[in-house]
Amino acid sequence: MSVQISPSILSADFARLADEAAAVAPAADWLHVDVMDNHFVPNLTLGLPVVEALLKHVAIPVDCHLMITDPDRWAPGYAEAGAGNVTIHAEAVQAPVRTLRAIRAAGARAGLAVNPGTPVEPYADLLPEVDMLLLMTVEPGFGGQGFLDLVLAKLRRARAMIAARGGQIWLQVDGGVSAATIERCAEAGADVFVAGSAVYGASDPAEAVRALRAQAERATAHASWPAVLPGLSAPGW
Ligand code: DX5
Ligand code: ZN
Repeated sequence: MSVQISPSILSADFARLADEAAAVAPAADWLHVDVMDNHFVPNLTLGLPVVEALLKHVAIPVDCHLMITDPDRWAPGYAEAGAGNVTIHAEAVQAPVRTLRAIRAAGARAGLAVNPGTPVEPYADLLPEVDMLLLMTVEPGFGGQGFLDLVLAKLRRARAMIAARGGQIWLQVDGGVSAATIERCAEAGADVFVAGSAVYGASDPAEAVRALRAQAERATAHASWPAVLPGLSAPGW
């Protein structure tokens, strides 16, 4: 199971987005873009026109995290624009199967996110429609918040759920991920790590990505969660 790091540009300089993306591109796997509409979350960031512009300048795949009330309406557009992954929130989506399929049909990976207080078990039957599960480790809306340890138990359950389903679904954490918390996340089962302030608050963002990756790789090497080998399926959930 390989570790992936997805720096969040929420903590970058919004007037210099292309440069800020370039600063992490040599080290990061993804560029995490937080789309907020001031309805689903109490903050407003950017939308499809900015993502379309950014896509022309970014050398690594773009990971769009849609914190918006109407993902059914907007999510396929981000995939059509060229995002490599589009994540929608379970709390907001009206027709998850249709919308997740539309994201995939447009050529992107489909992500499903749950907030800290939302259980993951009700979404077990949706796993075949999903390429990545995102467990929020803060209440969404702002960068720089404290990591919520209470999500770690859910992370372990989500990892077991994925293993039981036999899938190769990625498990992402987002919120408060830093040098102080990334090992706990990796040990609990996360394999894709979003980090905003821990990367863009560092004097050398690319070096911060490399350091986070090394920490997560070390923690994953002796993790107790069950890895699923490619091509093998575990017993049904
Ligand atoms: C919060 C966003 C995060 C945010 C994380 O709602 O979804 O992606 O940028 O920022 P940090 O890593 O600073 O908690
Ligand atoms: Zn995010």
